[in-house]
Amino acid sequence: MKKKPLIVGNWKMNLTLREGIEFARSLSERISENSNIICGICPPFVFLNDICKILKDSNIYVVAQNIHNEKSGAFTGEISALMVKEVGCTHVLIGHSERRQLFGEKDSFINAKIKMALSIGLKPILCIGETLKEREDGKTEYVIENQLRSGLNGIESDCIKDISIAYEPVWAIGTGRTASPEQANEVHSFVRGILSDEYGVNVSNSVYIQYGGSVKPENAKELMVKSEIDGLLVGGASIKLGSFLDIICNCVN
Ligand code: 13P
Repeated sequence: MKKKPLIVGNWKMNLTLREGIEFARSLSERISENSNIICGICPPFVFLNDICKILKDSNIYVVAQNIHNEKSGAFTGEISALMVKEVGCTHVLIGHSERRQLFGEKDSFINAKIKMALSIGLKPILCIGETLKEREDGKTEYVIENQLRSGLNGIESDCIKDISIAYEPVWAIGTGRTASPEQANEVHSFVRGILSDEYGVNVSNSVYIQYGGSVKPENAKELMVKSEIDGLLVGGASIKLGSFLDIICNCVN
């Protein structure tokens, strides 16, 4: 059976605080009536405190875009899992391809962050995805399997229910070039198979696997109808309230 769609907007390094607050207020007014969807937003760190307060009694998750893997210490410029939890985040993106590619994050660091998040009750969304070159070289499954297994290395089966996976092919992020619903579903199914191998079919089926990469109101529905696509992780189209709401609307209707 299809799960309730999980639609998360990753604002990345966009919007002003005022715009973010306005967005969160309007979104909560619109979404609170809609119980057919699970929705989240990932504001920049410095907006989290204000936005968590606005969304405290709503059914919208506030998701941090990143955390460090240590609890505290001499890590200038970094933000801990405890800090984002303290201001009210319930979830965190981990291993986004921009972190991997632009900031050199490695699988072992990503794995340590996932363990840190879980240890304090913050739910990780593990992002994985292949580059265009890797896809063209026929290495998609190899890369996905590696990122998934290393990201989840040492994590017990009873914690997997708190983790979501976001498949975001790097070549589809911010390029306007979406994976076709079939391409996305194929990778999701591959991911589900690995999870099933590792943790059993029931656990595997309970895990949310979201697709991300040039999701727009026009393609949201055709992606969401695919059997293995449980949700969407939206970048560019999530920073305008109108297009984010259209995506949500198209996913439930
Ligand atoms: P775009 O939707 O802008 O392609 O970004 C996807 C993404 O990286 C979400 O995390």
